Amino acid sequence: MTRKILLAPSILSADFAKMAEELKVVEDSGADWVHVDVMDGHFVPNLTFGPPLIKAFRQHSRLPFDVHLMIESPERWLEAWRDAGADRITFHIEACRHAHRYLTAVREMGLASGITLNPQTPLCAVEHVLEECDQVLLMTVNPGFGGQKFIEPLIDKISKLRAMIDARGLKTLIQVDGGISLQNAQRISAAGADILVMGSAFFAAEDKSRLAREVHSL
Ligand code: DX5
Ligand code: ZN
Repeated sequence: MTRKILLAPSILSADFAKMAEELKVVEDSGADWVHVDVMDGHFVPNLTFGPPLIKAFRQHSRLPFDVHLMIESPERWLEAWRDAGADRITFHIEACRHAHRYLTAVREMGLASGITLNPQTPLCAVEHVLEECDQVLLMTVNPGFGGQKFIEPLIDKISKLRAMIDARGLKTLIQVDGGISLQNAQRISAAGADILVMGSAFFAAEDKSRLAREVHSL
């Protein structure tokens, strides 16, 4: 069976002072989604964008906005992200107590739902909510910063999640985030990933259209 591999550039590595232009660069490259890393300075040691900024960014892109919430108590803000223009919302299982309830709430708002797992969080954390997830995001670095090194043993976690999803005949997408470049993209997609998030590797690439084409041909 062939799966189309999608590319979701993370604007964490964009020039924040030129975001309108950077979003056009992402769209013109042929990439599929805009990955928006939201950090609150509590769940992760960094701060990025809130709803007003995302709303402003939204005016400059037609691509789906894939909002990765690295925040405590993500359930408090679900409507705010939707109103800002999110199309897909993933939140960390480590940051919330009632994942099933909030995944359902995201879908009821008409958005795609997703759970994110930190590197150390075992796959059994999503086992009983997998049916409610349009995507599962596996972190392959410790969240908080771009430009970190891919944690190699997590390749096995991607394969195990692929097996879990396929065994149940689900359409849940596997997204992988952290330390991805063309150097390791082949192995990550072969392990079972559907969506590759790329921050530093995307924005450092001289020919971004070529990068997107290479990801699509994996
Ligand atoms: C890290 C973020 C990632 C990050 C990826 O906390 O979730 O999306 O931007 O950046 P690279 O591709 O540089 O590891
Ligand atoms: Zn991310």
